[in-house]
Amino acid sequence: MLDKNHRTISYLRLSVTDRCNLRCIYCMPEEGVQFLPHSDILTYEEMLHLVRLSVQRGIRKVRVTGGEPLVRKGFTGFLDILCRIEGLEEVALTTNGVLLKQYAADIRNCGICRINVSLDSLRPERFFHITGKDSFNQVREGIEEAERVGFDPIKINVVAMKGVNDDEILDFAKLAVNNPYHIRFIELMPVGGNGWNPDKFMSTDEIYQRLQSMGNWVPVKSNPYDGPAQRFKMEGSQGEIGLIGALSHHFCAVCNRLRLTAEGSLRGCLFSDEETDLKTPLREGKGDEALLRLIDWTIENKPKDHGLLSQGPRKCVRQMHSIGG
Ligand code: 5AD
Ligand code: SF4
Repeated sequence: MLDKNHRTISYLRLSVTDRCNLRCIYCMPEEGVQFLPHSDILTYEEMLHLVRLSVQRGIRKVRVTGGEPLVRKGFTGFLDILCRIEGLEEVALTTNGVLLKQYAADIRNCGICRINVSLDSLRPERFFHITGKDSFNQVREGIEEAERVGFDPIKINVVAMKGVNDDEILDFAKLAVNNPYHIRFIELMPVGGNGWNPDKFMSTDEIYQRLQSMGNWVPVKSNPYDGPAQRFKMEGSQGEIGLIGALSHHFCAVCNRLRLTAEGSLRGCLFSDEETDLKTPLREGKGDEALLRLIDWTIENKPKDHGLLSQGPRKCVRQMHSIGG
């Protein structure tokens, strides 16, 4: 379905829980977070119902996010049903990898072949500093297991932060040369009181410059499902690099996304706190026609852009773990 700005909306990011087994510095505020009570979170049945309705409105790809999706009970059973929804062409998953070793085979068996794992440092003590948990080895083992059970591609998301992990950019790039991984550097975004400041921000242009010191990274032709990543390969590299200029490169004009939060609110934009509550009408038994009208309204009124470039970094009120990135 088209929005007011002639964008085709075909991609839904679905947050299945706001809970997480990590506490990443860029995602959760220092003072800690209050998680939603279970009764406020959509049941799996409710989520599946809303996804089926969204598919009627043109959604073709769903990415499951959190918090951390694998911490929710019964997750792989849910994923299995999600993957079989008629009309959905692709289901992908973003995880922090902590529980991946245990679940990789089950997830793969659901029919998912694309997975994104967040990993911001290759040094255990720094991983601890960034995430607050001593789970580095679990994540590495999770990634290896994902490779073993046949995920392809395996994308590794690295949030680039000056003074935190920018000295590891080349180490990550080497990982992409020597393994079939897609290393994706993501610009740090200002969300939900995460202490964003311009000193920590590193643009994808700067990252690209650093990468060039390794040799010649050649652009890879992108496909329609790539989303906003600019992709690069080096001759002989097994994997590749992706740069996601969430802030510096204005990709709002081609944004095809909607987001459904774990508590059943539909959002047109990560950076706009405007949300459509679908849970209340769903639980009141309002019926599919009413829900479809609300989905249509949200698509039609998807914000034109995030306004971060014209108005400067502005923090959306919700925290990242409750939107799902
Ligand atoms: N800036 C950039 N990326 C973020 N993510 C979470 N919070 C932020 C932020 N403030 C990313 C994580 C994960 C994905 C779900 O979103 O690295 O890969
Ligand atoms: Fe958890 Fe992801 Fe937030 Fe880190 S970024 S705390 S892994 S939800």
